[in-house]
Formats: sequence, C-alpha cells, structure tokens
Amino acid sequence: MTPYEAIISKRDLRVYTDQPIADDVMHRILQAGRMAGSAKNVEANRLVLVTDQAVQDSLVEAGEFSSWIGSSAAIVGFASPVAELRLFDVGRQAQNMMIAAHAEGVGTCPVTLQHSDKARAAVGLPDDWDMRMVITLGYPVQDHPDSPLKRTRVALDDLIVHNRWA
Ligand SMILES: Cc1cc2nc3c(=O)[nH]c(=O)nc-3n(C[C@H](O)[C@H](O)[C@H](O)COP(=O)(O)O)c2cc1C
Repeated sequence: MTPYEAIISKRDLRVYTDQPIADDVMHRILQAGRMAGSAKNVEANRLVLVTDQAVQDSLVEAGEFSSWIGSSAAIVGFASPVAELRLFDVGRQAQNMMIAAHAEGVGTCPVTLQHSDKARAAVGLPDDWDMRMVITLGYPVQDHPDSPLKRTRVALDDLIVHNRWA
C-alpha cells in the first residue's frame, strides 16, 4: 500500500474483533503520533493509551456518540493543557496514527468527548488538562452492514475554491 493509497482508502471503522493489537504494531502507531510536528515545536500534547476495560467503559460516558467505544482493542486519548488547547496538533497526531494503523490492517475512528469532566475523571487527568478527542482502534469485522464505503464525499470540484471565494 503506497502512502497515497493508505490515505485515500482509510475509512472510519467502529466494529472490531476481539483480537488484541500486538505491541510492535501499537508501537509503530504511537510513533506515528509522536512524529507529528507541533506549533512552535512545543509538543504540549500527551497520548493516553487505554487498554483497560474498566477505563474504556468509563470513557463511554464522556461522549454523546460514543456508546460503542468500549469494545475497542485500544483507545488513544489526546490530552492538552486547558490553557492552550492545540487542536490542530491533535488532528495531525490523530491522522498520522490512523493512517499508520490502517496500513497495519487496524481500523480506527475519531470520537469526540463532549463531557470534559467525565473524560478527566475516567483517566485521572488533572483539572488543568483536557481530553476532547480520542481515537478507537481494533481489527475490523469484515463486511459489516454499517460499511462506511456506502458513504460518499463532496465532489472535488465542489470542494476546491480557486484563488478567491467571490
Ligand atoms: C472531529 C471528528 C469528531 C468525530 N466524532 C465522532 C463521534 O463522536 N462518534 C463517532 O462515532 N464518530 C465520530 N467521528 C467520525 C465521523 O463520523 C467520520 O469521520 C465520518 O462519518 C466519515 O467517516 P468515513 O471516513 O468512514 O466515511 C468524528 C470525526 C471527526 C473528524
């Protein structure tokens, strides 16, 4: 799989088998997140790797569209200091990791945690840290009826504005 093929074919998958993710595979996925650049190279974010079932179950309560995340092989949370939430940096880390995971055959999906207090409590974050996004990881159940391949994207011609909006 070329990098372009990995980027183009990655879809967000939410239904996983019970197969755990091997340590060497997870290591490469985490490295992909680590190597994302950050604004001013501050590297303020931290990755919270959750494989414990009880902690995963408590994270379910932290989101509005997260009822399914407890059946992930792993969840990675993106923790940032509240004083300067670095969401672009989080996005870069998350996408790096999801593409690396996809190339390893591991499915992923980003999930929003709307309830910061519950997210903080679930993983024991201090009050001056926030964790608004996680990604779930796991080996995908093949041919699941909720296949994301049914969903389309905005056509390229409708997506691109050339030079000026008007
Ligand atoms: C910032 C962001 C937040 C998201 N939050 C959730 C979420 O809370 N729960 C969920 O199931 N999916 C969530 N998603 C996944 C989107 O629904 C998914 O990216 C979109 O449907 C496209 O999926 P596809 O690539 O499989 O077509 C989120 C995606 C992004 C980019």
